[in-house]
Amino acid sequence: MAYKILVLKGDGIGPEVVGEAQQILKTVARQSAIDLEFKEGIIGGHAIDAFGTPLPDDVLKNAQDADAILLGAVGGPKWDNPAADKRPEQALLGLRKALGLFANLRPVRAVKELIGASPLKPDIVNGVDLVVIRELTGGIYYGQPSEKRQGKDGREAVDTCFYTEQEITRVLRFGFELARERRKKLTSVDKANVMSSSRLWREIATELSREYKDVAFESQLVDSMAMHLIRRPRDFDVIVTENMFGDILTDEASVLAGSMGLLPSASLGEEINSAGYRVGLFEPIHGSAPDIAGRDEANPLAAILSAAMLLEHSLGLRAEAELITQAVDAVIKEGHRTRDLGGAGTKFIGCKAMGRLVREKIEASET
Ligand code: IPM
Ligand code: MG
Repeated sequence: MAYKILVLKGDGIGPEVVGEAQQILKTVARQSAIDLEFKEGIIGGHAIDAFGTPLPDDVLKNAQDADAILLGAVGGPKWDNPAADKRPEQALLGLRKALGLFANLRPVRAVKELIGASPLKPDIVNGVDLVVIRELTGGIYYGQPSEKRQGKDGREAVDTCFYTEQEITRVLRFGFELARERRKKLTSVDKANVMSSSRLWREIATELSREYKDVAFESQLVDSMAMHLIRRPRDFDVIVTENMFGDILTDEASVLAGSMGLLPSASLGEEINSAGYRVGLFEPIHGSAPDIAGRDEANPLAAILSAAMLLEHSLGLRAEAELITQAVDAVIKEGHRTRDLGGAGTKFIGCKAMGRLVREKIEASET
């Protein structure tokens, strides 16, 4: 039986990096005799131009029908007007909500050979291995009311941070379970000294921690967490937090790895797919980088590592995922660098060349 993979390349560098990631998936599938059936869809700015909506109905339908989704990035200067009622980002928010992708995993690992690429001191970054789990379908990004309006004394605007016990519990539980498979440490991040939703978050986290006595548990306030994350990042294993805090902290955490061009992500829901695993959406955490789009300069490794996460989390193919990760590590170890990875005196290679090198490593591993 074929697994259905929906490919949503999106805008900017999305098509370039996902193009490489898709080729990697095809290579692995061919080698391991896995039947993958690819469909493509147009979302984001391109969909606004072509269909007048960032997330066309038939794309959403194909997404609901897929076992997993591989996504690039959306957005660009052409669609940047924040006052416009149709914005590329709505495609992402719409997909996450419609598919119930509540758990967003963003692993951050310092690769030894790239430690120099981080602006932080090597002795801080060396050995970092953490994963942020960001709650993805609730909180202030979805709460109602959310609007700008005319008030008594001029314009006013409101956003609402709303969480139910059920939403908080399921993402924290997901985090505790993951911590059990890792170094058994969980940090829950909130703003319980100010926000009611955070006080509920902390209450539930503390209650749940009693069920997971084998996991070392702590709560941190998001402001000091922002500091700890770059002062002593090695101390963290699994970090679980609400939607907006997770959005902010994961951009910060990407600095630890040296480049956003290295960081993959998985967004998982409760629904089980035809492979018997969670339906998921897999995407690099970087954006559409319109400034370098179409120039074969983008780093495809985050998209390629997202494809590895797809195999592992939505298809249960751990060994095949590992094959990709090892190929990426090997290519980095050999000194190949895209421009974002910097390095004095380096001769940079392009997106396509980087993709090809990873593919060749995978092919060479065939026995
Ligand atoms: C991310 C992005 C998105 C988010 C934007 C593009 C809506 O920043 O995935 O982190 O805020 O979730
Ligand atoms: Mg973000």
